[in-house]
Amino acid sequence: MKCAKKILALSFAALLSLTALTGCGGSESKRIVRIGHNQSMEHPTHIALSAFEEFIEENLGDKYDVEVYPSELLGSQTDMVQLTQTGAIDFCVASNAILETFSKNYEIFNLPYLFVNADAYHEVMDNEEITDQLFKSTEKAGFEAVTWLDAGTRNFYTVNKQIESPADLKGLKIRVQQSPTNVEMMRLLGGSATPMGFGEVYTALQSNIIDGAENNELALTDNGHGEVCKYYSYDMHQMVPDILIGNYNFLNELPESDREIFEEGFKLINQVEREEWTSAVEAAKKRAEEEMGVNFFYPDQAPFVEACQPLHESVLAGNPDIVPIYDAIQEVNAKYSE
Ligand code: GCU
Repeated sequence: MKCAKKILALSFAALLSLTALTGCGGSESKRIVRIGHNQSMEHPTHIALSAFEEFIEENLGDKYDVEVYPSELLGSQTDMVQLTQTGAIDFCVASNAILETFSKNYEIFNLPYLFVNADAYHEVMDNEEITDQLFKSTEKAGFEAVTWLDAGTRNFYTVNKQIESPADLKGLKIRVQQSPTNVEMMRLLGGSATPMGFGEVYTALQSNIIDGAENNELALTDNGHGEVCKYYSYDMHQMVPDILIGNYNFLNELPESDREIFEEGFKLINQVEREEWTSAVEAAKKRAEEEMGVNFFYPDQAPFVEACQPLHESVLAGNPDIVPIYDAIQEVNAKYSE
């Protein structure tokens, strides 16, 4: 089944490369703009991208036809980033976590306990003086980040054991995103990291290949993980943004007036997604609790924070380029501390 899905995604991707090369995409005179993501059609990400589609078609409908592909139809996030790099598709939403394997500076937003709270996180991500240098630094990698999307707070959830402290993770195989920083985080917390793509997690949980995973509340409902995992612990280890990236050449070859409208559209994506996010999390939590029988726990975060601290030091020591961003984040954190 998984194999069939992969073959389908890959053949679709091959078809896209071909149509991108030949220019044959259906509509003769319009440029088809393809955007891929890995969430369901009810998810805030899809709602926001659909608002973008409508906005571009209202304002530039004679020139562009936007197509949004949800649910890993174009492959995993890693596949989609590669398609975006080559220009086979124009945009995709990728978790910041996996972007660090394409451009090392993205490590910064993968650090556990980087922000003191969600307000500090939002303020940092909204501050272009902090994010711009990173977002626009990936010309060599063939893409540029155009906006960010809230993906909430990541917490551990397991099939049959509640996590109260890092000691409870010992001996458990926990799925993490495919990022060296996340693998190291799990090592420091004492669990056994099992990196894999998002679409593979449900089956891995169901067949006991892994004992648990870590994500925001929507994974329980939208992706069905709450059918298998009944213990969700708010250790709140990461706030990892999702990033909308676009093919570098596509963006930079847009006529200036079109680019301005696309930029307005990117802002709209961020705004709509964040408006949807809070109520989506509340609804997911309620449904997980009432309909799926998931239990929520609120462990003391201090031992988790302490265990992860060495990761800040090692990542900064290994990548001096991100130290100024880290320092700017600490200034924002200081405003929200005490
Ligand atoms: C969240 C995030 C996705 C990511 C997923 C994951 O759902 O929004 O971008 O792919 O976590 O854990 O892989």
